[in-house]
Amino acid sequence: MFDIKNISENEAKKELEYLAKEIEKADIAYYQNDEPYLDDAKYDELRHRNRALEAKFPHLIRDDSPSKRVGAKVKSEFKKVELKVAMLSLADIFSDVELHDFILGVKRFLNSSDDIEFTAEPKMDGLSFSAKYENGVFVKGSTRGDGKIGEDITENLRVIKGFPLYLDKDVPDVFEVRGEVFMSKAQFLALNEENEIEKKKTFANPRNAAAGSLRQLDARITEKRNLSFVVYTWGEVSNVFWKSQTEFLDFVKSLGFPVNPYNMVCKNEEELLKSFNLLMENRANLPYDIDGIVYKVNDLELQKRLGFLTRTPRWAVAHKFPAEKAITRLNNIRIQVGRTGALTPVADLEPINVGGVLVSHATLHNEDEIKRKDIRIGDMVVIQRAGDVIPQVVEVLKEKRTKELEEFVFPTICPECGAHAIREEDEAVRRCTGGLTCPQQAVERLKHFVSRDAFNIEGLGDKVIEDFYKEGIIKTPYDIFTLEERNRPLDLFSEGQALNLEKRDGWGLKSVSNLFEAINKAKKISLQKFIYALGIRQVGTASAYLIAKHYHNFNVFMNAMRDKDIALLISIDGIGPQMALDIVEFFEEEHNIEVINKLIKVVDIDDFYEVIAENSVLAGKTIVFTGTLVKFTRNEAKSKAISNGAKVSGSVSSATDFVVAGESAGSKLKKAMELGVKVISEDEFIEMTV
Ligand code: IVH
Repeated sequence: MFDIKNISENEAKKELEYLAKEIEKADIAYYQNDEPYLDDAKYDELRHRNRALEAKFPHLIRDDSPSKRVGAKVKSEFKKVELKVAMLSLADIFSDVELHDFILGVKRFLNSSDDIEFTAEPKMDGLSFSAKYENGVFVKGSTRGDGKIGEDITENLRVIKGFPLYLDKDVPDVFEVRGEVFMSKAQFLALNEENEIEKKKTFANPRNAAAGSLRQLDARITEKRNLSFVVYTWGEVSNVFWKSQTEFLDFVKSLGFPVNPYNMVCKNEEELLKSFNLLMENRANLPYDIDGIVYKVNDLELQKRLGFLTRTPRWAVAHKFPAEKAITRLNNIRIQVGRTGALTPVADLEPINVGGVLVSHATLHNEDEIKRKDIRIGDMVVIQRAGDVIPQVVEVLKEKRTKELEEFVFPTICPECGAHAIREEDEAVRRCTGGLTCPQQAVERLKHFVSRDAFNIEGLGDKVIEDFYKEGIIKTPYDIFTLEERNRPLDLFSEGQALNLEKRDGWGLKSVSNLFEAINKAKKISLQKFIYALGIRQVGTASAYLIAKHYHNFNVFMNAMRDKDIALLISIDGIGPQMALDIVEFFEEEHNIEVINKLIKVVDIDDFYEVIAENSVLAGKTIVFTGTLVKFTRNEAKSKAISNGAKVSGSVSSATDFVVAGESAGSKLKKAMELGVKVISEDEFIEMTV
């Protein structure tokens, strides 16, 4: 073999021919004849060498290249890829007013009244991908996955037409580009037509078709599907030398990556709106689906100052197009009881295709909504679907009421337990008063407790929870953790009978031991997941995260709640007074405390400790800001501190590490001096951050 660095084109050509034949022979021996004649290591080495040569000489890639054939191997599942820089999502906005507010928010955060320049980019409706290049060679492709861990789609990206395997211009040593893989409308129609003829599965829309084609364990299928892609952002990069989003787009374009030709630069709100309307009007004429526009602050310095919220950047937003609509019959109104006792009306619809998706249910929100729209069973209704949200009933076509339909009467007793369902003053929802005596509420709480973002216990699916609850095997979350012991108690004289779960229909020793393993694994849990698992009204994953970040430790949080420290709760950015009240009320209920006290004996709650910038000297420190800051707004300073791993507190105590004193600082500065807490200036603070 030749040294790959110094190999000539001619030599490479010969070697590629040799490799194609050799690998094909090995493939046939392995897959078709079940008689491998190369060992795995040798085989991998040949493939690796083939890949390296092709990366260096992309124009020499042969039609019969093994890289286009990617084995016939059926991989059991995708390999995982760690995304060093998380792939985030964007907040959605739906109206001009929200756009105005977004721009205002950005300006306020930056303490600026000048117009801010944005890019406006079509929001491609496909699948996001990340592609990493090392020294200009494509090495790893990934889906977004959960944002931090994606699926390895290296081979799949490799076979997309025009996907650069080798970048010949000077690029940073580590260079990760990100964008969207999509399928054109024409390709989608052609694929469905072909599949129909061959009696294969057809796809609901181009997005699904793109996802189904990209996430193929056998990349040969991906190759046949004619996917397209664009690049619109970056991930891990060893040297970010561009100064704006536009400079980045120009750079990747010069490297041969496709970028969307309709990307625009807008100088102010008016231009942003113009770009939105322009694209919306021409949406149908585009050869691919877009579902909105993405606005990004163009200047990277400003982007940096704006930073990120939990999962989305502050410097970008997705302006979604209005939803797609359809008309169908409303067959029934069902009342669902949720884990907090809320009675939610759901419309059962005559199934209908809305923008490529079959819709058979829609949310009716609440009692007032039904009354206001005068929705009756049997009505013809207009429904709409926007993105991934649950379809909604927007309007009743009253002129289509051919016969008298009865007005809908919202139940005042819980359909599940018969308890009174009441509506508090100025509350929109009616709630079952049965609390945990309402079996449905109890079951929903348990389902929530074991759900993915909470304890994430595989093996305790909805059906199992329902059955176990009915049979009295699991009544409260704590019972989950005593299952194993109760299954076959060691102590023969212990109360109750052995559960013998393995004898249940459809169960066996293996599934029972898997379940116990999952339960034992789940015992170690992060603080934010634990808080989310409690199922406190209104507290979703994002709020649970904020609470965890603020209190760090469960006991600290619980004690504050028992002291009814609402003021501190509300001071957390993102926690409003109503939610704070719900949280405190949750801890007022004796039953909840009882369950928690039992739970904390069996589970191990990790303290929250987020170090975003590990090398920052501020990591783990507690900081108090006081006085007027001149270089940033208070919010900006706070988020800078947090992203450096520091905790920001509102009051000075001996636990405070630094007080950052701005102009005319008052009592807090005095207190810091009294306690001997280190006081630093705004400039010193900036020095310490990374
Ligand atoms: S930027 C941190 N630009 O929209 C910002 N995203 O809801 C990262 N998308 O996951 C995304 N077109 O799949 C960006 N021009 C564009 C986009 C775009 C489509 C998708 C992408 C992302 C989702 C966010």
